[in-house]
Amino acid sequence: MYTQALDLSTSPDVSSLPLGALEQKFYATIENEGKIEPQDWMPEDYRKTLIRQISQHAHSEVVGMLPEGNWISRAPSLRRKVILLAKVQDEGGHGLYLYSACETLGVNRDKLIDDLLTGKAKYSSIFNYPTLTWADVGVIGWLVDGAAIMNQIPLCRCSYGPYARAMIRICKEESFHQRQGYELLMTMMQGTQEQQAMVQDAVNRWWWKCLAMFGPPDSASQHTEQSSRFGIKRISNDELRQQFIDATVPQADILGVSLPDPKLRWNPERAHYDFGAIDWEEFWNTVKGDGPCNQERLATRQQAWEEGKWFREAALAYSQKHAGHPTASL
Ligand SMILES: [Fe+2]
Ligand SMILES: [Fe+2]
Repeated sequence: MYTQALDLSTSPDVSSLPLGALEQKFYATIENEGKIEPQDWMPEDYRKTLIRQISQHAHSEVVGMLPEGNWISRAPSLRRKVILLAKVQDEGGHGLYLYSACETLGVNRDKLIDDLLTGKAKYSSIFNYPTLTWADVGVIGWLVDGAAIMNQIPLCRCSYGPYARAMIRICKEESFHQRQGYELLMTMMQGTQEQQAMVQDAVNRWWWKCLAMFGPPDSASQHTEQSSRFGIKRISNDELRQQFIDATVPQADILGVSLPDPKLRWNPERAHYDFGAIDWEEFWNTVKGDGPCNQERLATRQQAWEEGKWFREAALAYSQKHAGHPTASL
């Protein structure tokens, strides 16, 4: 549906307008909460920023299938297996919507995938950590998907139409992911002492990594200013991180787990929770490729790409064979 949008000529012909007028129209659309569509004029920096952000997002969805996919064959019941399968499959679907949205900016999908497989493109660092126990599956749903939702809800209003529309559907599915994780943990917390300890251990290992998911502090974030001018980023990293902490602490209380931060306490003056310092050195090391699973994740994607070659070729041959056939468009 995204690539079709490229063929529509819904905008009046603006090709004869001078650059200043085009730019003015672009910023006026953003200011009026309108949407920039693929066929509209846009500054080159806007296009580049979106390609970087949407492709990183697509890669994160696809690589994000791996840590949890690791547990599909070992889910403790048929019900849990069905839920986890559905969730992991959703993430694959999110990757596909996002690659399609990215292609509307004039970039080729093979190039995007090549950038991922050669290590040139980044994806969310959170997926470079291992899932050691079944409780990790619950904690990923609760905290990792929970943090993703916090980051992604504002993107439903982002200025680029195809990205904003993809995010609306993605956020609905992410909210199911968050709930299934929390429900899984709730069940374990009502179980044996070993199960409770397993949940606490998983929370301890994932908490700080989830806080780092919101990206570097605003003072050190290189993209924030431009992204907010473009109507892509609407809320800063630090604000989103604070929102996430404020929403999550009461959920941890209900669950009966502690969060591994001795400095975490309610500040009535700020009307927010105060929290301790994030280890940014660990974050950057993982971003740069030295996390515990960086190599494994990339190797798994490379292998999947190789093993899927015969299928891509067969699908292409099939579509070429049927192109022009009267039933081809049915
Ligand atoms: Fe997702
Ligand atoms: Fe998700």
